[in-house]
Amino acid sequence: MTSATSTTSTSVTSDRDWWRQAVVYQIYPRSFADANGDGIGDLRGIIDHAGHLVRLGVDAVWLSPFYPSALADGGYDVDDYRAVAPELGTLDDFDELVSVLHGAGIRLIVDIVPNHTSNRHAWFREALASPPGSAARNRYVIRRGTGPDGAEPPTDWRSFFGGPAWEPIGDGDWYLHLFAPEQPDLNWALDEVREDFLTTLRFWSDRGVDGFRIDVAHLLVKDASVIGGAAADLPTQERIQAGFPDGQHPFEGRDEVHEIYRTWRALFDEYDPPRMAVAEAWVAAHRRVAFARPEGLGQAFNFDLLLTPWDAAAFTKVITENLALSAEAGASSTWVFSNHDMVRHVTRYAVPNGTDLVAWLRAGGHDPEPDLERGLRRARAATLLALALPGSTYVYQGEELGLPEVTDLPADVLQDPTFVRTEGAEKGRDGCRVPLPWTETGESFGFGPGTASHLPQPEWFGAYAVERELNEPASTLHFYIDALAARRSLQGAEELSWRTSTADVVAFERPGGWVSVTNFGEHPVPMPEGRVVIASRAVDALELPAETTVWLQTTGA
Ligand code: GLC
Ligand code: CA
Repeated sequence: MTSATSTTSTSVTSDRDWWRQAVVYQIYPRSFADANGDGIGDLRGIIDHAGHLVRLGVDAVWLSPFYPSALADGGYDVDDYRAVAPELGTLDDFDELVSVLHGAGIRLIVDIVPNHTSNRHAWFREALASPPGSAARNRYVIRRGTGPDGAEPPTDWRSFFGGPAWEPIGDGDWYLHLFAPEQPDLNWALDEVREDFLTTLRFWSDRGVDGFRIDVAHLLVKDASVIGGAAADLPTQERIQAGFPDGQHPFEGRDEVHEIYRTWRALFDEYDPPRMAVAEAWVAAHRRVAFARPEGLGQAFNFDLLLTPWDAAAFTKVITENLALSAEAGASSTWVFSNHDMVRHVTRYAVPNGTDLVAWLRAGGHDPEPDLERGLRRARAATLLALALPGSTYVYQGEELGLPEVTDLPADVLQDPTFVRTEGAEKGRDGCRVPLPWTETGESFGFGPGTASHLPQPEWFGAYAVERELNEPASTLHFYIDALAARRSLQGAEELSWRTSTADVVAFERPGGWVSVTNFGEHPVPMPEGRVVIASRAVDALELPAETTVWLQTTGA
């Protein structure tokens, strides 16, 4: 294990394109590792386990929010953008984390949540304490209610987490929260809001942060009539769902949002190397391009693989489209199978294509019973395929262990606001946020020195522990380590040429004779020519088994 000692020297280079084909490891800090035994993962836990990241061979870490927060939405409700949550550590710990990661050649990307603050943010407390029409209220998206005394909400809009999107302040004013009521939406029409975020971006960039992941980057700008004042009638929820022409939705993906990111880009480019940014923008594929342009954030998440069934034609389509879109933007594409918002991909691939995951989870995740062996086989094959694609791959903590979703957390431990706000219709996202198992035994499987973990780990977690997988040459952890190492040695220009594929086989070639072949089918196919570099499961020289990816070296070997 590489010791994670603090160092002042830095081994990250000034390469301005480091992010283009990086492997980025997402840490959800409260569930990664707990150094002090209070059941909550913390920055010290990450520092102590930096050896895991080094061994894995990732290029960067993306840290989900670590800011002070009441956790109304897992930390995406931020009280203070320029501080560390006391239960996670201090700014000194943060600086040490930067220096430890940099010393190991690993970059750090932090999460920025600009659409909304928490309801405990100083600005929101000031807004509540100030009268309607005041400057303090104007920092948020606030409108008078309708009906007598403003007792009815301005519109019938629903929050993404269920329930109404407007909350009454009690004096005829209502504030907009596209997410939980504890997440009031900021008014991005205001220069003061814009300036404040530039200050935040500078604050972390000056501390050595290499990039930013921008939370719901497409929602910031609201139609002026939403913010208030204007007489225009706001559309109904029905109209919102029916859709709007590109860029004209009252709050989703409005064109004006790119003015904001141009100013962010100017700030990022003042640094050497320029700070990178990746947009979380849930917009139609062709609308991602503007977020990913070099004069914008520079990269945008492509979430298509989160929603793509296990199917050769579907994968081919997603790859083709996204390579074209990223080329149009001048960015590299991103490939994502799992994150803190989605059912882990081992589990998605363990149920039949077309399963309604929301209903399946609501019923406890046993009907149908997931075939986890198959899920893992497919997940490893899919991951190896994506690791061969041009662009960057985002790995969510625990996927390197082959960890399935925890589908049967009891209702009384659930933290995700969607569960309560949808009255149980949606189980929510806690099942992919259960603290990691580090050791095979022990009351929190080595997550921390104590017995506690803020979400309970199931009995079977020990089988996926880091310690155990390190001792098993055929483990998913060893597979990730080997795949990342092979990728690093084979990586070249961001080019791909398709090889002849059949109905069930997806095959392509990268520069230097690096060939990736995936058999999506249920039956083996003949092994293509070339020297086997790595396979997602054991292969022999003659056959590529069902649901398997292999990398082959075809020239210059
Ligand atoms: C993003 C985050 C998600 C959060 C939401 C609101 O989608 O990934 O976890 O709940 O934004 O901030
Ligand atoms: Ca802790």
